Amino acid sequence: MHFNIKGLLARNGFFLDVKQPQIYVNLYTAFKKAILNRSLETGYQLPPSRVLASDLGISRSTVLKAIDLLLVENYIIAKKGSGYYVRAPKNKKIKLHISTIEKKGGYPTLSQKGRAFSENAVWPGEDSIKGVAFRPGLPPLDIFPVQIWKKLIDDYWKRVTPSELSYCNTIGLQCLRENLAHYLKVYRNVHCHPDQIIVTTGSLHSLYLVSNILLETEDEVVMENPTYPMAYRLFKSLGANIHAAQVDKEGLNLNTIACQQPKFVYTTPSCQYPTGIKMSMLRRYELLKWAAEKETFIVEDDYNHEFSNWEKPLGSLYGMDSQERVIYLGTFNKLIHPSLRLGYMIVPQQLVDPVSALYQQSSRFASRQNQKAMSAFIEKDHLNKHLRKVIDTATERKEIFIQHFNNIMGDSFSLDTLSVGLHLIAHNKHKITDVLLEEKFLEHNIRVHALSKYHILPNSANGLVMGFCSVNPKQIKETILKMGEIMERLKV
Ligand SMILES: Cc1ncc(COP(=O)(O)O)c(C=O)c1O
Repeated sequence: MHFNIKGLLARNGFFLDVKQPQIYVNLYTAFKKAILNRSLETGYQLPPSRVLASDLGISRSTVLKAIDLLLVENYIIAKKGSGYYVRAPKNKKIKLHISTIEKKGGYPTLSQKGRAFSENAVWPGEDSIKGVAFRPGLPPLDIFPVQIWKKLIDDYWKRVTPSELSYCNTIGLQCLRENLAHYLKVYRNVHCHPDQIIVTTGSLHSLYLVSNILLETEDEVVMENPTYPMAYRLFKSLGANIHAAQVDKEGLNLNTIACQQPKFVYTTPSCQYPTGIKMSMLRRYELLKWAAEKETFIVEDDYNHEFSNWEKPLGSLYGMDSQERVIYLGTFNKLIHPSLRLGYMIVPQQLVDPVSALYQQSSRFASRQNQKAMSAFIEKDHLNKHLRKVIDTATERKEIFIQHFNNIMGDSFSLDTLSVGLHLIAHNKHKITDVLLEEKFLEHNIRVHALSKYHILPNSANGLVMGFCSVNPKQIKETILKMGEIMERLKV
């Protein structure tokens, strides 16, 4: 890669002066300095002498003279047929900071929001790819139709026009929003116009946009307890006053909260996260009625509907809402794979402009290439076929997981098998805390999540939340065996 070599050499003392008798010495000195202070790193390939000469506005013979000096002094080496490369500086004093201004400190402070976001972040291993088994929230990654996706991406690049490489509409491509509107009608009883759909990079992104345009510091927000920790951290960072609603076997129980004027209720009705409970019809009506009385919004995070509805399908809250109170969040990151970063939301009319404005002024729009491929994936019926395959695979793996987990870990845990969705909760029968177990398993690349971390009030929960289908049956069995061995060691 040849970056702006002219600027780099200038910063290291190269200047062009026609009165200068020996430009090559100046050029050699600038190169030497750049190598010693590591602006040019070991292994860096110098641009060809012809290119250097033209970039710097000097003759090629001048460049070659400077190169000769660098070769003689072993700052660079020549590789036959390939060019000149920077050598590792030997016994040379390396000065990394060439600035003469002393570093004094005294920088501007972070905003309150900046501090809050930093305090609420969880760093260790958060983004690591360690531990696909049994990380919650992953579909069967090994059956994703890579070849089909590749073909759709290739088709995109075959047809793309120069103007399509420019910026695009914040709310998303028309073709994807039309296909989505159709998909949502069929699968979620969601009847909406494509113009009401805003394509985002995922549910968390949608939630970020919605909560930022609605929340002031100290505004009340209602959340289920336990809940999705990232949503909790986001609302905390924005300074919300969070009220926890308990979850029972019918889902969110409104009788357990006391708040005056919440800005919104964040809920996961089709598959309560992480308990996997499906909200009953009665509770759904109660929630919509309560929201109307309180004049508030409901944020319906339908992150997992494809998996939670295959046995006894229930529509969405959005589909039951006649008052424009439900903000609907959907994602493809769960069904396809999380690295896709493609989701969507449907917001009441009065929120469309503010949400789009914040989106436009932050991340602009989701990748056009992925939007196009996703649109074709839906239109050509691949999504439907993939969904069926995912459901069959998940059903099979759930059985295998339950059987092996109970065989090997049954003494230590009781597995809750009634939940819907792609994860299961195992309640710990031992005194070892779930947080310690999470740590110990991760040391062996097994990722399980401590149930207690999903609670937003002090709690005595002690269990493991585990995604059961991201890896194949052989890996499921091997991983559970390993967990059994780790448990045995922990018990003694
Ligand atoms: C309940 C819930 N909502 C939303 C998300 C975020 O999904 P996305 O990857 O689309 O941001 C997750 C991810 O695990 C989740 O568990």
